[in-house]
Formats: sequence, C-alpha cells, structure tokens
Amino acid sequence: MIKILEHHSLKSYNTFGIDTTARYFVSVENVDELREALLLKGYPKKFILGGGSNILLTEAVDALVIHIAIKGIVPLWEDEQQIALKVMAGEVWHPFVLWTIQHGYGGLENLSLIPGNVGTAPIQNIGAYGVELKDILLQCDAMSMDTAKIHTFSKEECQFGYRDSYFKSEGKGKYVITSIVLVLTKKTHTFNTSYGAIKEELTERGITKPDIKDISNAVIAIRQSKLPDPSEIGNSGSFFKNPVISEKTYQALKTEHTDIPGYLQDDGSIKIPAGWLIEQCGFKGTKHGNAGVYEKQALVLVNLGNATGKELLDLALKIKSEVHKRFGIHIQPEVNIIPHF
Ligand code: EPU
Repeated sequence: MIKILEHHSLKSYNTFGIDTTARYFVSVENVDELREALLLKGYPKKFILGGGSNILLTEAVDALVIHIAIKGIVPLWEDEQQIALKVMAGEVWHPFVLWTIQHGYGGLENLSLIPGNVGTAPIQNIGAYGVELKDILLQCDAMSMDTAKIHTFSKEECQFGYRDSYFKSEGKGKYVITSIVLVLTKKTHTFNTSYGAIKEELTERGITKPDIKDISNAVIAIRQSKLPDPSEIGNSGSFFKNPVISEKTYQALKTEHTDIPGYLQDDGSIKIPAGWLIEQCGFKGTKHGNAGVYEKQALVLVNLGNATGKELLDLALKIKSEVHKRFGIHIQPEVNIIPHF
C-alpha cells in the first residue's frame, strides 16, 4: 500500500538543493507500487522524480511527485566475453558503476561519478570522456504514464542523440523508465582513453597499460578537479548543452574570435564548448545573489547558499542572452527547468 505525503520538502531530492515542496509526494519501491501510483484517481498531474540531478525547480511542484526508489541488479545472461545486467531505475548511478568495476566488468568506467539514478541515464543519454550510455545499452523497460503497462524499448526505439532521446522528445512525459539492460565486457575490454584529460591523468600517474579501475580512478580525479560535489555545493552538472553549429557559421565566427574552440562532428557540423562561450562573456566565477557560475567550469551553475530556483533561472537567462548577443548562438539548457522553460 503506497502512502501519499502532503507538502513534502524536495530539498534533499534535487542536487541543486532548492528548498521547495511537492503538493503530494510518494516514494515507490517496486513496479507494482509505481503502477498503483500512476493509476491513482484524483491526482491529475503527476511528476516523476529520479535522482533529481538534472532538474531546476523554480517553484513548488503542484502535482503528485512520484519518487522512483526501485532497486536491484539482476544478471540476465553471460558468456565468456560479455554479461547482460538488468538494473532497476532507482539504483544510484555511481555506486552501481563502482559495483561493475569491482566485479571486473568493463564499459562504464568513463561514466564514473556522474550524479543521478540509473533510470534517468537513458533520458538524456548521459555521456562523458568519449563514452555515452547508448554505447553499452541494449534496451530499457518503461511504464506508460496513461495505462501503467510496460513496454520494452530497443536501443533504436530510444532514438539516442547527444544528451537526447525519445524520452526527452516525442515520448516526453509519457513513460517512466523502470529498468535498463546493459551489456558489459568480462575479458577483452574496449578502452576509450582518447580524451585528452584522461591521457594526461594516466601519464601523470605513470600508467601505460590502464585497466578498468585505473580509467575509473582517472575520470573520478578529473571530475573532482573541475566539477563541484553536489553534497557540498548544489549544482546540476553542465547547465547548458554544447551548441552544434554549421562549418560555415563556425568559420565566420572564427574571423572575429580567432581562438574559438570547435570539435568536428561525424555529420560535418561543429560542436562548440558552451563553457568557453560563457567564460568569454565574463561569467566564470561570478556571483548573482545566491546563484553563481562555478569558478573552475563555466558550464556549471551553482547554489551558493539558499538560492531559489528563480534566482538560478534568472542567471541562466542572463547568460543565454549574453552569449547570443556576443556570438549569435542560442545555447539550450541541458537541465530540465520545472515548470517548463
Ligand atoms: N571551457 C572553457 N571554460 C570553461 C569550461 C570549458 O573555455 O570554464 C572549454 C575549454 O576549451 C575546454 C572545453 O571547454 O577544453 C571542454 O571542457 P570540458 O572538457 O570540461 O567539457 P565540456 O564540454 O564543458 C562536456 C559534458 C560534461 C562531461 C565533459 C567530459 C556537455 C554539456 N557536458 O563538458 O558532462 O563531463 O564534456 O566529457 O556535453 C554533464 O552533462 O553534466 C557533464 C558534466
């Protein structure tokens, strides 16, 4: 039997640490409880909350907030080379990654220390240091918000893109991810150490033949050196996505801003680091009331004390507008702004 709480604080349920409330709140620990919550009559608005690491709450949530706390890791099959694991949505991402590393399973080492839960990972196709979730994901199960029936989505049906998926576009607000299936390596691991910062970190540590744990440790050290720990400084990782522009626009920008960095994409477009654009506009390390721009990574907005969601949103809008004024580029938030932005 699920228990509905009223005017429940969400402060410890969002990594920005915004002190706001849910009109109604329920935490569900298995798929049956989730079904029960979704089918409850009398709550027309329902809001799904995972690890709260990718949301900015700008006001009290006037809905039934359903917190996904469904746990479990189940091996589905394995052979000499690979293992398939079904992981329930409420598992916390980083402890799960460490569990796979302890068991000697390869594939998630570059995705170490990403905040959030397993169930939210496919929504934005989490990625770091040259690896994205889609590289190891086989499929995921999701429950329809309307019918409470579970549908298995193949990787193709998930329509993964850069920080994007079906669940963020056409399927937005229609499904709750209940579990994912990942295929990890047991023997011959495919390491991705091409990212400059990883190479440097491994060299500094004198490691020439890294194993899964070495890469995970390097990634953890890099992230700790640039990104604030949400348990100390409220934040939501990269606030904006890195914008992708055409080669023509990039060349035009380069005539005026000769040092603008750009990374060529497979389709010929160019990805620009939004952190660079924001730093150029002078925001890095600045404070705006209780909201701020992190001093070591301009792409990260931080809660310096008791910032409200509105304060952080105002800062984000100011940054977006300055970047557009100076570079003619519209940067888009990666974080979900609640209510809709
Ligand atoms: N840069 C600056 N100033 C800054 C920050 C960045 O000039 O303050 C420029 C530099 O040129 C730097 C480049 O941006 O070389 C890239 O910076 P970084 O390696 O920190 O990566 P990012 O593009 O800012 C992306 C992801 C991160 C992920 C890292 C590593 C997005 C939106 N963010 O950041 O993901 O950890 O790459 O792969 O794609 C997240 O999504 O929350 C996240 C942290």
